[in-house]
Formats: sequence, structure tokens, C-alpha cells
Amino acid sequence: MIDGKKVLFSGMQATGNLTLGNYLGALKNWLTLSDEYECFYSVVDLHSITVRQEPAELRKRARNLLTLYIAAGLDPKKNCIYYQSHVSGHSQLAWILNCFTYMGELNRMTQFKDKAAKHTDNINAGLFTYPVLMAADILLFQSDVVPVGKDQLQHLEITRDIAQRFNGIYGEVFTVPEPYIGKTGAKIMSLQDPLKKMSKSDENPNASILLMDDPDTVIRKFKRAVTDSDACICYRDEQPGIKNLLDIYCTCTNKSTAEAVKEFEGKGYGEFKLAVGEAVVAVLKPVQEEFSRLSKDKAYIDGVIKENAQKADYYANKTLRKVEKKIGFPERIR
Ligand code: TYM
Repeated sequence: MIDGKKVLFSGMQATGNLTLGNYLGALKNWLTLSDEYECFYSVVDLHSITVRQEPAELRKRARNLLTLYIAAGLDPKKNCIYYQSHVSGHSQLAWILNCFTYMGELNRMTQFKDKAAKHTDNINAGLFTYPVLMAADILLFQSDVVPVGKDQLQHLEITRDIAQRFNGIYGEVFTVPEPYIGKTGAKIMSLQDPLKKMSKSDENPNASILLMDDPDTVIRKFKRAVTDSDACICYRDEQPGIKNLLDIYCTCTNKSTAEAVKEFEGKGYGEFKLAVGEAVVAVLKPVQEEFSRLSKDKAYIDGVIKENAQKADYYANKTLRKVEKKIGFPERIR
């Protein structure tokens, strides 16, 4: 709790271009939750270096991502928006938690297996202990809730396990967090292969909608989206392409699936795909315009970076001192 409010933590990697999946699965929920909770939204650049990065490019992407959080509607006066690398507590707590996490647990992480298979030339220890850093991010702020897409659920589970194990040994040190998964949009699928998650690393440019895609590109990609030959706009597993498009439509318009199915009853796929594209453009356009405006305001963004890092550091240190005391590290002499 901070000032009587429950705490929320979430983050995104500054790797590659953000997709509509990141927006609908995570950022959109961040906006709706931001009044209710004391929120920490981090640009998790420490996580990004588990895969080799070009330094100038990483720096640029991290700044763009931080700006995008604000452009999407998060007020940096109310929400703590900061770079993970500016708050050393993340790395410090991650080391400590590494000593409370088993190799066997980490071996079961499906994202590690996927990433290791993709980057065979660089299966580094950081990639393996990535979920521990993620646990540290969350536990550092005594977070109650963590809004994420479905692909992060396994990492939330291990975070809870680590917190409970630590608490079991030392008493109630950490708040055990709950994941928050949106009713729709929790797993946006590829437009070219609706059995695969929409991902920023997809090589097929038509598979993902990027947050910075212009309206024509968005509409064109939706027109090319893979569907089926059933000629029915129904929400069912047998039609994964249509189901995904309905999910996207409903998440963008805040309509229920039943409402959307009714709206498109008897309509053709062409008309439906265009309507989905237009709904997405209506969501992305204002964010893109605000992003472009904010990007030019260097002094303002620099101010946010400085102030919020200090705030995050303050709360991080509170938890860290408590943890250090519990595990028996000597007290600091002032
Ligand atoms: P990342 O950067 O891969 O994704 C950021 C957020 O977007 C969600 N997401 C999706 N949701 C729905 N459909 C999709 N196709 C889709 N693709 C991505 C993700 O679930 C995530 O919520 N490890 C995390 C970042 C992280 C973090 C944390 C998150 C680091 N520490 C602590 C929460 C709390 C990651 O790589 O997300």
C-alpha cells in the first residue's frame, strides 16, 4: 500500500517495434487501472539486453517507449514512468532472489525454451534468469496487481512462488501479487497465422500491426488478414482468424463479443475486415499524434525521466532495506 492505495507494477521491453498486441493486451488495461492503483510503469531495459542490442538503437527505443506510455494517456504526475536501469534496486533484488530460485523451476519456463531455440548463438545466463529479474521488478514495489497479456502468466506464477518461499522463511516480507488479464485482448494473434501470438519479432510484416503504422498500412494489413472459407462471422475456435479479428474489434470498441457478432450478421468478410481496420486506426491515430508532439518536447520528457526515477528509487530502497535486514546483511552506518 502507498498512501492507502494498492500498488500496480508492469513493464514492457524496449525491443523492436511495439505491436497492437502490446497495446491491447497490456497498455490499454494500464490506462483503465491507473486511477485505482498507485502505479509503476517501467521501460524494462535490463531485460532487453538478454538479447544482443545495438546501443544507440536501444537508447532510442527506450526513450520512444517511455514517451509512448505518456502519449497513450498515462499521466506521469500520477503514474511513476521510468527506466528500469535507472533504479539499481532491480538488479540488487534480482541477485538476492536468484539465491531463492531453483534451476528446475527456471528450466520449465516456456519463454526461455522459445528464446533459447531462437538465439542459439547466445544462450546467456541472463536469458535463463530473466524470470527472476521480473520477479524482482514486481516484488520491489510490493505490488498487488500486475496487468499483463496471457504470455506472461507463467512468469507471474514463478514470481508468486518466489515471494511465498521467501515469506515462508523470513515472515511477511513481500506482497504476493495477482496477475490482471483483460477480458478481451489478452492474446492477440498474428494476422497471417492466427494460431501464433502477434509478436514484434515476426519476420512477416503483414503478421503484426505496429503501433506506429499509418492508417493505410493498418487497413491494408487487415484486408490481407488470413480468415477461412466458412463465410460466417462467428466467435469460435474452429475459426481462429475471425475469432482474433473479433477480439481486436471488441477490445478497440469496448463492445461485447455478442454485440459485435450481431452487428456483422450476414455481412461479408471484406466489410468486416475493413471495420476492424477502422476501429484500430481510431485507437492508434490519437496516440501517434500525441507521440509525435511529445517527442519534440525534450525538456518535458527529461523532467519526467528524472523525477520518476527518484520516486521509484525511493520505494525500491524501502523494500530492499527490509529484505537486506531480514537475510542478515549488516546495517548501513550513516
Ligand atoms: P513484452 O515486452 O514482451 O510485452 C509487453 C506486454 O504486452 C503483452 N503482449 C501481448 N498481449 C496480448 N497479445 C499479444 N500478442 C501480446 N504480445 C505482448 C505482454 O503480455 C506484456 O504484458 N517480460 C515482460 C516485461 C516485463 C514485465 C515485468 C511485465 C519485465 N518485467 C514485470 C510485468 C511485470 C515482457 O517481455 O513483455
